[in-house]
Amino acid sequence: IVVRREDYAPPAFWIDTVDLAFDLDPAKTRVLNRMRLRRNPDVAPQALRLDGEDLNLARVLVNGGGCSFRMDGQTLVLENLPEGAEPFDLEIFTTCAPEKNTQLMGLYVSQGTFFTQCEAEGFRRITYFLDRPDVMASYTVTLRADKDRYPVLLSNGNLVDSGNLPDNRHFAKWVDPHKKPCYLFALVAGKLVAREQRIVSRSGKEHLLQVYVRPGDMDKTEHAMNSLMASVVWDEARFGLPLDLERFMIVATADFNMGAMENKGLNIFNTKYVLANSATATDTDFANIESVVGHEYFHNWTGNRITCRDWFQLSLKEGLTVFRDQEFSMDLCADPSARAVKRIEDVRVLRTAQFPEDAGPMAHPVRPDSYVEINNFYTVTIYEKGAEVVRMMQTLVGRDGFRKGMELYFQRHDGQAVTCDDFAQAVADANPGSELSRLLPQFKRWYSQAGTPRVQATGRFDAEARTYTLELAQTCDPTPGQSDKAPFVIPVAIGLLDAQGRDLPLHLDGGPAVAGTQTVVLSEACQSFVFTGIDAEPVPSVLRGFSAPVVLDMNLSDAELLHLLAHDSDPFNRWEAGQRLALRRALHAIRAEGPVHQEPLDEAFVAAMRAVLRHPALDAAFKELVLTLPAETYIAEQLDIVDPQRIHAVREAMRSQLAHALHEDWIWAYEQHRDNGAYRPDPVSTGRRALTGMALTMLCLAARDNGNPVWPGKAYQRFKDAGNMTDRFNALSALVIAGLPLASEALARFHGMFRQEALVLDKWFALQAGAPDRGGNILPAVRQLLAHPDFNLRNPNRARSVIFSYCSANPGAFHRADAAGYVFWSEKVIEIDAFNPQVAARLARALDRWKKLAEPYRSAAREAIARVAAKPDLSNDVREVVTRSLAD
Ligand code: ARG
Ligand code: ZN
Repeated sequence: IVVRREDYAPPAFWIDTVDLAFDLDPAKTRVLNRMRLRRNPDVAPQALRLDGEDLNLARVLVNGGGCSFRMDGQTLVLENLPEGAEPFDLEIFTTCAPEKNTQLMGLYVSQGTFFTQCEAEGFRRITYFLDRPDVMASYTVTLRADKDRYPVLLSNGNLVDSGNLPDNRHFAKWVDPHKKPCYLFALVAGKLVAREQRIVSRSGKEHLLQVYVRPGDMDKTEHAMNSLMASVVWDEARFGLPLDLERFMIVATADFNMGAMENKGLNIFNTKYVLANSATATDTDFANIESVVGHEYFHNWTGNRITCRDWFQLSLKEGLTVFRDQEFSMDLCADPSARAVKRIEDVRVLRTAQFPEDAGPMAHPVRPDSYVEINNFYTVTIYEKGAEVVRMMQTLVGRDGFRKGMELYFQRHDGQAVTCDDFAQAVADANPGSELSRLLPQFKRWYSQAGTPRVQATGRFDAEARTYTLELAQTCDPTPGQSDKAPFVIPVAIGLLDAQGRDLPLHLDGGPAVAGTQTVVLSEACQSFVFTGIDAEPVPSVLRGFSAPVVLDMNLSDAELLHLLAHDSDPFNRWEAGQRLALRRALHAIRAEGPVHQEPLDEAFVAAMRAVLRHPALDAAFKELVLTLPAETYIAEQLDIVDPQRIHAVREAMRSQLAHALHEDWIWAYEQHRDNGAYRPDPVSTGRRALTGMALTMLCLAARDNGNPVWPGKAYQRFKDAGNMTDRFNALSALVIAGLPLASEALARFHGMFRQEALVLDKWFALQAGAPDRGGNILPAVRQLLAHPDFNLRNPNRARSVIFSYCSANPGAFHRADAAGYVFWSEKVIEIDAFNPQVAARLARALDRWKKLAEPYRSAAREAIARVAAKPDLSNDVREVVTRSLAD
């Protein structure tokens, strides 16, 4: 059944209060749900239809008495409710079986502890309800459970009562002072301990912050707590948004479909985004925890105080909150270079994951028009592209203007369930006279049109007129259901470099001089921008900071790109110049006839990379980004016909050439950056560790070719002696990536050291499933990993660490000429779908881009997808993905 945005209708009833009482038992939990409802006076009188899923219904009472009801599929229908505007009471008693809940939606058990996940439509698996975000109610929740097995009983809001019950049971009663949609409901019950922190906010109010984990994990909670405190401070400082709760809790669970969930006052997190100490977590983990803790915390205002009217508006809260968490992480950086590193990382995610989505069968607008299964729309488009749309608004109204826009948004809509239009309108209205306000209806095409626009830029220097004219033209390819696109509003940040590499002052059409960067707004299909007073031909730096989520086509020469790489004051475009140079070489080698050239790089490129690596002023983190070649999936997106094996071979050849040609430089880089003192996850030492790890990989790659045992020996030594997980794992990876004999010894040792640490074992599995393929060895290795005693398909993190690392993150190993990778994929999609459709549907997306594949991959991939599609009892989740994938 397809749900359509245009079919939105307000609810026929409002639910004002909900009183839930749980008798928690893994086999049979009893749920007493007492609601106070009233008819929505704005809607014609009709039956009450309550959503439910996998519930056993025992009793329905209206105003304390029996009443007639019927089932329409899983929907509970009440036709003879009291007429008129008066509120009435509805009591529903159901049971459910949390221990049998393998899909991890609704109420489930993880390692003996109860957790809930209600977004998007999980609350209906707990009780019958109007499971839609525009129905906001006040909740009172009583939890009853065995005292020994479930000493901690948590729900949203404030604890108002607790005590003992007969039979060694106890209870806790929670009242949430804020109205909320049911997707923000949560409960947790189990054996947990908490790190606590009391803080006083600016207003002088006291708050209790808690991070709940399993008893053995207390030593991994400090970073999450620090991140939470930093989030509270940041939201108050940057947006004037204070913590509105006496008590804010984060609870970690090892079994979670996604990253984390922003339930009001009771965030539930995947352990991956909470637990960290220097011995078990890498710099990347520390950074991810900071941003996910921030993300969920920022949802408290953008998502919870103001929520979505319907699920088509998901990006209203997700795009905005990703934007906020990105800004948070950037603002925590002390210097501009570290901010730029964060920006580059975010753009890399957008381009390697969202651009392919936007060009594939699952392409959808930031505000979709229809869906079969809403869980399939928690996508990089809704999240990351949605964040770029918000970022463009900030670019168009300025940072202060954006803050004013947020203030107006809260003035108008606090406590409401609203739409993306409402948000854009508030930002525009707060900034009359801005480009956003002038172009608002057109700007909103970013919400309605799918696909990544392409901007063609052409520069013309006129020596006589002393002008530089930049012509910008935009197009956007058709996407499923949208054949013609109207022009977007595209802010394009521009700089012009002189021969010395300095930014020229810019006079746009003779306007006032702007130092450095000028942002022009492209709103027509084609527009020209004339810069005056230019004495010599400049080198253009276009789309600085990645000012819009577009593909920029600009035919700069190698010399111009090298100039930008050497001098651009905009670090994003400086990095981008290096990526373009590398991409050009990769594409050239891929398109060439005959076997892959083993040295695809020219001396000028190698020298430029050396200059960056040895540069006295650039940070290590930035150097590591520049020296990382474009990802195989990014290269694939530039081609009409994709031979994954050839792309892989070319990229490997480029990397190996850099390993050899810069051998002395890698030694220098390793020696210069290897010592960083006591572990701290700050940007500077993080960057130094990243560059050290890269150098070690390069040195091991060279050693593999020349048989010299020195660097493998050093890598193994560093692996053994490392004082933190980042250095240890980087050294292990270097051995594994280079395919050195010492790798197996190191892997065995690593497993022995961390057999008790689930998140570290995930890394161990992922490293092996994601390792470079040599003669088809990875698939058999993956099958062996699945048979490993520590493997558990039911645990999403573990399943992802092996299966996704292979199918989605290792194209050179997955795309096999014998189709065995695709066969494996179809088996696993079907197997996982039987117990966890959400995870299966994610995996199903690994073959999104099959239509671009060269033969024999294309036909084999289509067959594998068809095999999945032919399965009769697929979930809606997987069915929607494979159906769209096979559609033409
Ligand atoms: N709102 C959560 C977040 O972005 C994601 C929850 C998604 N859950 C799901 N089952 N689709 O932080
Ligand atoms: Zn979110």
